[in-house]
Amino acid sequence: MAPVVVITGASSGIGEATARHLARSRGARCVLVARRADRLEKLAQELGNGASVVAVDVAEGEAPRQIRDHLDGHLDVLVNNAGAAWRERFDDGGWEDVRRTMELNFNAPVRIIEALLPLLRESRGSVVNVASVAGRVARPNTGAYSASKAALNAWSDALRAEEADHGVHVGTVLPGFIKTEGFPARELLAKPATRWMVSTPERVAEAIDAVAFDRHSERIVPRGYTAFVAARALAPGLAFRMTRGGAFTTSTGDGE
Ligand SMILES: NC(=O)c1ccc[n+]([C@@H]2O[C@H](COP(=O)([O-])OP(=O)(O)OC[C@H]3O[C@@H](n4cnc5c(N)ncnc54)[C@H](OP(=O)(O)O)[C@@H]3O)[C@@H](O)[C@H]2O)c1
Repeated sequence: MAPVVVITGASSGIGEATARHLARSRGARCVLVARRADRLEKLAQELGNGASVVAVDVAEGEAPRQIRDHLDGHLDVLVNNAGAAWRERFDDGGWEDVRRTMELNFNAPVRIIEALLPLLRESRGSVVNVASVAGRVARPNTGAYSASKAALNAWSDALRAEEADHGVHVGTVLPGFIKTEGFPARELLAKPATRWMVSTPERVAEAIDAVAFDRHSERIVPRGYTAFVAARALAPGLAFRMTRGGAFTTSTGDGE
């Protein structure tokens, strides 16, 4: 039977690439979630295989119930991917920036999981939370974003342990710089010295597949970013010097 997969943020970038990848490689019946209905409908038509659409703002209170009601009582995989970065310094964006970022990148996935967990327990299915390398290595201008992704990383680790007894697998994918609409990585792509740092949504889609279906716990994409994460843990002074104005800080704050 075709696995039923809910993908939030499926109207562009990583979510769209994941829908295409899972429909092709796993024969998935995709449930596409985001706000832009026109894009989702077009993608659903392209995918075929019973793909359907829930056009909703995932940060709205009723969104988890709307997604659950759309399903016919069965779900194999939930990919919590919808997210955004507003890229404000704290003295510009203040608490309001932190609040809206946490609402979308942390509270919304938690609430969607809460609504869909009974179905996932029944199918002994998987959750993939798309967090970020930024949740492990913070940079200026993206403090709220990093905080939201750090919260998602940590909470996912706890939920993985809690749900193992129920047969539900909870995993994370931590992308580095990936060229998408919301994260265009223009500065990095403009310079030959930094172009290598930018990867594609298709690479992230493969990692999401591995976490969902082969039950890996965590995937960093591209894998080379593991070195940044290790450097932050093992040599924080060096990491702080680099993020304050060095190799992977861009003046626009473009990036994860
Ligand atoms: N690209 C990177 O460098 C990078 C790095 C690390 C992590 N990530 C994470 O990867 C995920 C996908 O990002 P992306 O790079 O693919 O960016 P993207 O192309 O901008 O896609 C973001 C998706 O999220 C949806 N979305 C945003 N706000 C929403 C809301 N309130 N309700 C429902 N859907 C919403 C958007 O759809 P609508 O506008 O149609 O609602 C869109 O489909 C995000 O969680 C992001 O934090 C990206």
